[in-house]
Amino acid sequence: MTLRAVVRGVGHYLPDRVVPNSFFEETLDTTHDWIVSRSGIERRHFAAEGQTTSDLATRAAQAALTHAGMSADEIDTIIVATSTSDLTFPSTATMVQNNLGMIHGYAFDIQAVCAGFVYALANANALIVSGQAKRVLVIGAETFSRIMDWTDRSTCVLFGDGAGALILEGQDGAGTPADRGILSTDLNSDGRYRDLLYVDGGVSTQTTGRLRMEGKEVFRHAVEKLAETAHTALAKVGLGADDVDWVVPHQANIRIIQSTAKKLGVGMDRVVVTVQDHGNTSAASIPLALSVGVQNGQIKQGDLVVTEAIGGGLAWGSVVLRW
Ligand code: UT7
Repeated sequence: MTLRAVVRGVGHYLPDRVVPNSFFEETLDTTHDWIVSRSGIERRHFAAEGQTTSDLATRAAQAALTHAGMSADEIDTIIVATSTSDLTFPSTATMVQNNLGMIHGYAFDIQAVCAGFVYALANANALIVSGQAKRVLVIGAETFSRIMDWTDRSTCVLFGDGAGALILEGQDGAGTPADRGILSTDLNSDGRYRDLLYVDGGVSTQTTGRLRMEGKEVFRHAVEKLAETAHTALAKVGLGADDVDWVVPHQANIRIIQSTAKKLGVGMDRVVVTVQDHGNTSAASIPLALSVGVQNGQIKQGDLVVTEAIGGGLAWGSVVLRW
C-alpha cells in the first residue's frame, strides 16, 4: 500500500470589485482590445481597501471546508502560498489558522511567486506521505493590486487579486497511477533569471517596491519550461499526454496557455481557462482554476489533472494528481 495525498475539498474566493479593461483606458495609453489580444484578460478582481491576503485566504479556506464537509478541527496543517502577505511576519497561514479558530497543528507560508501553489502542493504531499500531516489545507492567496506600478501599462493591466484552497488527506492507495491523489511532482528554479520578474523593494531594502517584469523574456521561458516540467512529472509515473483529462495551468496569458497545451499535445478542450475573468493572480491562479473547474462540472472524481506554473525566480514546476 502507498500513502497518497487525496483531494477532499476545493473552494475559492474573489473580492467583490470587478475591474474591466476599460478602467485602464482612463489613465494609460492602452485599450481593451490590446489587453485581450496580447493576454486574453478581460477583467480582474481587486481587493477592497483594508481587505488583506489573509482575509481572502480565510474565505477560500472556509469554502473548501464546506465543500469537503469538514471543520477546521479536522485539519492539522495549513500552508499558504503567497508573495503578498499581510505583514512581514507572522505568516499569513498563522493568521488564517487563527481566523478559522484552530488552536492545534501548525501553519506556514511558502513563497515561490506564481509557482507558489505548485510548490505548496509538493510540500503538502511530502508532509502527508512522510506521516507528518494527515489533512493539509493548501491555499494560494494574493493581493497583487498592492504591488502594481499604476503608471506601467506593460504590467498593471495583467494582475488581479483572489484566493483558492484545496484540502488534501492521506489515504491508502495501491501504488499505481490509477490511485486518487498526488501521483508526482517536479519543481525547478534558476536564480540567474531574478531580474526578469521581481519586486524592487522589501524589508531588507527598506521599501515596499513595485512589480517589474521583462514580459517578452518571461513569455519565452514560460513556453519552453512549462511543457517540459509537465512532461517530466507525467513521465515519472509512466503517463503521457493522452492520459490527461485536464491541464490546469497558471493563468498568466492565454497565448502561453495555448502554446504550452500545443507543446504538451493536449487540445484546448482539455484545458481549464479562467484568465479572462481573473487575470494573473499569481499563487492563487491554479487553486482558483481548480475550484472553478469543479464548480462548472469540468473536473470530476477520477480525472487525471496536470497543473503547471512559472514565475519570479524564475521558479517553475508541475504536479500530476488524480482528482
Ligand atoms: O505570472 C508570471 C509569469 N508572467 C507571465 O507569464 C507574463 C509573460 N508575458 C506576457 O504575458 C506578455 O509578454 C505581455 C502580455 C506582458 C506582453 O505581450 P507581448 O506580446 O510580449 O508584447 P510586448 O511586450 O512585445 O509589447 C509590444 C508592444 C510594445 O510597444 P512597441 O515597443 O512595440 O512600440 C509595448 O510598449 O505593446 C506595447 N504595450 C502596450 N500597448 C498597449 C505594452 N503594454 C501595453 C498595453 N497597452 N497595456
